[in-house]
Amino acid sequence: MSTQLPELDLLAHEARAALAAATDEGALEQFRLTFLSRGQGRIKLALRGLKDLPSEARPRAGASVNALHNEVEAAFEARIEALRQRTFEDRLAREQIDVTLPGRPRPRGRLHPVTRTIREITAVFQELGYRIAEGPEVEWDRYNFEMLHIPPDHPARDMWDTLWVEGDLPMLLRTHTSPNQVRLMLSQEPPVRVAVPGRCYRYEAVDATHEWMFHQVELLAVDEGITLADLKGTLEYFIKRMFGAERKVMLHHSYFPFVEPGVEMAMDCFACGGTGCSTCKGSGWIEILGAGMVHPDVLAGVGYDPARYTGFAAGMGVERIAQLRHGIDDMRRYYQNDLRFLEQF
Ligand code: PHE
Repeated sequence: MSTQLPELDLLAHEARAALAAATDEGALEQFRLTFLSRGQGRIKLALRGLKDLPSEARPRAGASVNALHNEVEAAFEARIEALRQRTFEDRLAREQIDVTLPGRPRPRGRLHPVTRTIREITAVFQELGYRIAEGPEVEWDRYNFEMLHIPPDHPARDMWDTLWVEGDLPMLLRTHTSPNQVRLMLSQEPPVRVAVPGRCYRYEAVDATHEWMFHQVELLAVDEGITLADLKGTLEYFIKRMFGAERKVMLHHSYFPFVEPGVEMAMDCFACGGTGCSTCKGSGWIEILGAGMVHPDVLAGVGYDPARYTGFAAGMGVERIAQLRHGIDDMRRYYQNDLRFLEQF
């Protein structure tokens, strides 16, 4: 009788060959099931075959099977480990990033010149202690006109070509930011110091100096003892902050139904210093805003006592101020969304 297990050499040979051939995870698992499984693995089966040997031969034969088992198991573990290592290295190679490559430029957004100008204007008034507020673009006739002393048949309505809201309601797209004077005074007691930026609309033919949609900033100050000198000082400070400390300002009379007196403020031309050029159309002066002392009837209309309180209001066109500051030749450029224009700001 043989003292060795039959076919142990063959088993060893086959196991080594199968392991050498198993190069991926699936094949290795198949190998494990075939040779190393505790239930039906071929090495386990070989161990069971020991009982067919004469008892004095079993220890040596057993040692041989165990040795084979240990060898195959160790080789198997090594293969698994090698495979894991390779997968890891593959991944490192695949996911490598070259930190010396130049970055991808991201397009940088910027604020629209009108938005920027609104922020610059309101910042100046904030320095002076003004509060910033906003109001609706779709407005009542009452606030846009009537309470500003412009009744329905008043000829001054011709000053504002109005876009009306369809239907029976007396509503319109506000033609100026002045209705906020009324809204603010109705909502609070004096003292009032507020600046209101916003969009305005006028039914107007569009050309280089007119848009049917544009922006204004409204200014309102009401308190005891406010005079025209306060109006002038405040607006002069504003103009110097926006257009340079060397600017000179001039007030001349103008008419708006909701102020008395009404004024227009002009500054000496920053381009030519007052000698006359294309920016100031030869006059040396640039009209910049409308203003005036709040009409006593407007104060009374919102329930302020005109014997006790006085105030001034001003309205300025944002597009126009931006145009002057940046030398923009045509109003229409603001809203054409041409990046070549917008990217300059
Ligand atoms: N609301 C006037 C306009 O749009 C400007 C203005 C505002 C004038 C406040 C006087 C006082 O023309």
